[in-house]
Amino acid sequence: MNLTQFHHLPVLPANIVAIFKQNRAEIMFDGTVGGGGHAEMLLETGVGSQMYIGIDRDPSALVAAQARLERFGSRVILRHRRFSDLENLLGELGVRAVDGLLVDLGASSPQLDVSERGFGFRTSGPLDMRMDPTSGRSLSDYLNVWSHDELTVILRDLGEVPGAKMIAQKILDSWTKGALRTTGDLALLIERAAPAALRKRKVSPATLVFQALRCAVNNEPEELAQLLVTIPRVVAPGGTVAVISFQSLEDRPVKHRFRELTGKAAPPRGPAALLRATTPVLFEEITHKAITPTAEECERNPRARSAKLRAIRRRM
Ligand SMILES: C[S@@+](CC[C@H](N)C(=O)[O-])C[C@H]1O[C@@H](n2cnc3c(N)ncnc32)[C@H](O)[C@@H]1O
Repeated sequence: MNLTQFHHLPVLPANIVAIFKQNRAEIMFDGTVGGGGHAEMLLETGVGSQMYIGIDRDPSALVAAQARLERFGSRVILRHRRFSDLENLLGELGVRAVDGLLVDLGASSPQLDVSERGFGFRTSGPLDMRMDPTSGRSLSDYLNVWSHDELTVILRDLGEVPGAKMIAQKILDSWTKGALRTTGDLALLIERAAPAALRKRKVSPATLVFQALRCAVNNEPEELAQLLVTIPRVVAPGGTVAVISFQSLEDRPVKHRFRELTGKAAPPRGPAALLRATTPVLFEEITHKAITPTAEECERNPRARSAKLRAIRRRM
């Protein structure tokens, strides 16, 4: 895939630049560098003046990022990694803490649009959905092992899919009969299985099912949870953290963790209250409420529609 094929418009660009420019993050960690959209803008404004570490689990994204960010020279360090592995990576690079940490969650436009990646329901491709096609199990591999109960929980918890139990059964029946071969087959099956009332909803049942399956195949909730736990261990005093999420399943844990880190979480009861009383509040809010895109941005970039940006700063 070349750079022109890797077309992804960065979301909330001006807000991201404003947040990181403010503390002039010298060592920047971009956990979802993708094709380098945010990275290019940040580097242009002087963020990452010492080091801009960009990682992605998708090797094709890194090829695009490499070409786009070449002109910034050796301060850009790109690695094929998952952001849950951040602490190990910093250890390997000899970096103790970063001044800026950005993650822009979810899939990139090329992942969703290139049918061979098997993410999209508007195009027909293999049942894959791996962000990193070089490792892990594809959706087909999982369909060979998931039980009906497991698939129901995935659809319900990761996609909030109405009728999850029934749709899980239809998917597994069709898979066992050999009638489910492509993402197109899957989209058609969901379309036929979903009750009429569901088909009229704003978010289509296929969107919800594909979202749930993608999250499960890529272990997305665990990746995010691991990163959120790591924050106080890797962010330097004065350092900034920003997370862009695209669905409530991602935004909820971010909101909750940021509240914890800024001392804004609801007071715990029982023995946990004692623990809270002795836990120092290391961070402060930058965004009190999540920042969302303007109508003009949504018009220009419809994929930005559901974006929510939250940011915190570590106290000096
Ligand atoms: C929305 S795109 C990022 C776009 C990028 N910010 C830009 O402006 O070009 C999300 C990227 O995150 C990557 N990704 C998702 N989960 C990841 C994880 N746990 N570790 C590393 N990369 C991940 C995906 O492969 C994808 O390329």
